[in-house]
Amino acid sequence: MNINYYPGHMVKAQNDIKSVIKLIDIVVEVLDARIPMSSRNPIVDDIAKEKQRIIVLNKADLADSEETKKWIKHFEENGITALAVDSSIPNDIKKIIDEISKKGEIVYKDKKDSINLEYNPIYRVLIAGIPNVGKSTIINKIAKRNAAEVSNRPGVTVRKQWIRVASNIDLLDTPGLLWPRLDENNAGEKLALTGNIKQDVLDIEGVACIGIEMLLENDKYKKMFLEKYKLNQEDIDTLDSYDILEMIGRKRGCLVSGGNVDTMKASKIFLDELKAGKIGKISLECI
Ligand code: G4P
Repeated sequence: MNINYYPGHMVKAQNDIKSVIKLIDIVVEVLDARIPMSSRNPIVDDIAKEKQRIIVLNKADLADSEETKKWIKHFEENGITALAVDSSIPNDIKKIIDEISKKGEIVYKDKKDSINLEYNPIYRVLIAGIPNVGKSTIINKIAKRNAAEVSNRPGVTVRKQWIRVASNIDLLDTPGLLWPRLDENNAGEKLALTGNIKQDVLDIEGVACIGIEMLLENDKYKKMFLEKYKLNQEDIDTLDSYDILEMIGRKRGCLVSGGNVDTMKASKIFLDELKAGKIGKISLECI
């Protein structure tokens, strides 16, 4: 898959995050709960290895909660606290702040033990992740402010500001931007299927066909898919994913002259519905 992600932007993002990490005590890494592997850049393990860490499995409202629970257990077993979050729910935002406070206490204890601190230090927090996982939304919700204020573009220099989110916690108002890794395990396709890569740079029919195949591989998701598009198992038994896409197009009235199906339109409908959780709560990476 040919995705326009400029190498210059990646270098800039990497340098930005490396320069800021020195100031940080706690790193909150935001992932998409539907694709915790493909929305993760493992470089964070290296960049944040000396820091207290929290993983936020965001957009948990769109993911399969059974799978999210398994991912949380997986991260916990690897020594990283993970939280399932729907960033529109105030209590989920509070869960993040509470966890930051807990990690802050560990930082404080470590500092106190090493340099005999008499006073409470301020813990500094960075929210990091690849584009579109919800970093800015979470920063704005924690800071209780307007969505427009966070810049998210690599290559744009922004003045760093700290937001006091609790008596001894400062949050950096600019997210640490990691870049998506598109090289392994169909990561590019999964990022596209979840809307983390814009559809306009893609072969959307190809992505839709891969999405259909992924759903059909899992009995639970296959059932949701058949119900959503009013298809029977017998209808699709002998069909490939492109034929199924055509069937969806026909059912949804995506026709062009001569009675042919507009498969681009059908793909867009399917991808929009999958991305928005309208087929069901679906995780594309199960552990
Ligand atoms: P970023 O800073 O990491 O790039 O992400 P940002 O906050 O801009 O969020 C990206 C999209 O994800 C936004 O939708 C936002 O509303 C949505 N989002 C954030 N958190 C959640 C969540 O917990 N659940 C769900 N369902 N959506 C969430 P958008 O502006 O409409 O963009 P798009 O969805 O059209 O890409």
